[in-house]
Amino acid sequence: MLISGGVGCYCHTSLKPEVSSVNGSGTKILIVDDEESLRSLIEIYLSNNNYEVISASNGREALEKIDRDKPEIIVSDIMMPEMDGYELLGILKGSAEYSDIPVIMLTSMDEDMDKIHGLSAGADDYMTKPFNMEELLLRIEKLLFLKRRIAGAEYRFTESQKLLDLTKEELLKAHKQLKKIMLESLEGLVTALEARDKYTRGHSERVAAYAGGIAREMNLDNIDTIIIAARLHDIGKIGVRDNILYKGEKLTKEEKAIIEAHPVKGAEIIGKISFLRDIVPAVKYHHERYDGTGFPEGLRGDEIPLAAKIIAVADTFDAITTDRPYRKGLDFDHALNELQGNAGTQFDPVVIEYFLKILNTK
Ligand SMILES: [Fe+2]
Repeated sequence: MLISGGVGCYCHTSLKPEVSSVNGSGTKILIVDDEESLRSLIEIYLSNNNYEVISASNGREALEKIDRDKPEIIVSDIMMPEMDGYELLGILKGSAEYSDIPVIMLTSMDEDMDKIHGLSAGADDYMTKPFNMEELLLRIEKLLFLKRRIAGAEYRFTESQKLLDLTKEELLKAHKQLKKIMLESLEGLVTALEARDKYTRGHSERVAAYAGGIAREMNLDNIDTIIIAARLHDIGKIGVRDNILYKGEKLTKEEKAIIEAHPVKGAEIIGKISFLRDIVPAVKYHHERYDGTGFPEGLRGDEIPLAAKIIAVADTFDAITTDRPYRKGLDFDHALNELQGNAGTQFDPVVIEYFLKILNTK
C-alpha cells in the first residue's frame, strides 16, 4: 500500500542483515514537509522503528532544528513555503559542518528531469510520492549504513596515520641516535689516536672549536658540518704507523708521502658513512694551500672548499701554539703574526681576516 503519501505497514521485517543492523536505536532524523499529516505518519512509523524524529514544515524551520538537534539524516520535501527543499539542500551541502548529513528528497515532483535536478543539487537519494513507507525506511538505513561505514573507514585511516606518524617519529629518533653513536665512535677513535702522543693530545677538539668560531663569525649556514669535519679532519692518520706519525726527526721521502696520504685516506673512511658525506671535501682538502702548493691535488684559491680553508687556518693555529718535539709552541701574538704573514699564500685572506676578528674581540 502506498502513501500519497500513503503507507502499507508501520513496521518493517524484511531488511537485509547488514542494513537492518543499522536499526534506529535513537538515531535523530529530521522530516521536512509542509504537509502536517504526512509528517505525522512518517514520525509514527520511524518512531516505531526506534528513531528519534524531529520535524519541520519548511526549509527555514529545518535549519533551526538542524543547528539545535544535529540530526544524522534528513528527509525533505521540495515544494514548501518560505524556503523550499532545493534552497535547504544548497545551504546544507555548501556548509562545512552539515555537508556530510545525508539528504533524501521526498517529493511529488516525479519527472525524470526533477530527479536529475535533485540528485545533481546534492541529494543523496530521491523518492517520489506516492511512496512506500518500508522503502523509505530501507533507503534511510542504507544511507546511514554507508555514512557510518565511511566514518569508520575515516577513523581507521586517521588511527593508522597516527600510528604511522608515531612509527616514523620513532624511526627518526633511532636514526638520530644511531648517527650520534656513530659520530661519537669516530671522535673517540680520533681522540684515542691523538692521546697516544702528548703533543697532539686534544688537537682535533681545539681545531673544531676554532673552526666553529670562524664559521659562526662568517655567519655560515653549515657550522655544525664544519665542526664535525674539523673534529674528524685527521682521521686518515689512523692507518699511519706510530714510528712515522710521531717521529721526532726529519721524515724520509717515503714517510712524508705516507703522512701526506692521510687527507685522502680520511676522505675514503668518511665517504663510506652516508650521513657524513658532506664533510668529505673538507677532510680531503684541509692541507691544500691558497697558492696551489698544497696537497693532495694542489687546488688553489676558490677551488678549495671553504670548510677546508677554515680548518686549515684552525689546524695551523693549534699546531703553532702547542709544543712540538722539535720546538716550543708560539705565543698568541707570534702565532697571529705568522697566520697574517701567510695570508694569500698558505691561507685564504678572508678566512684569516675573520679569525683575527674573533681573536681580537676576545
Ligand atoms: Fe691533517
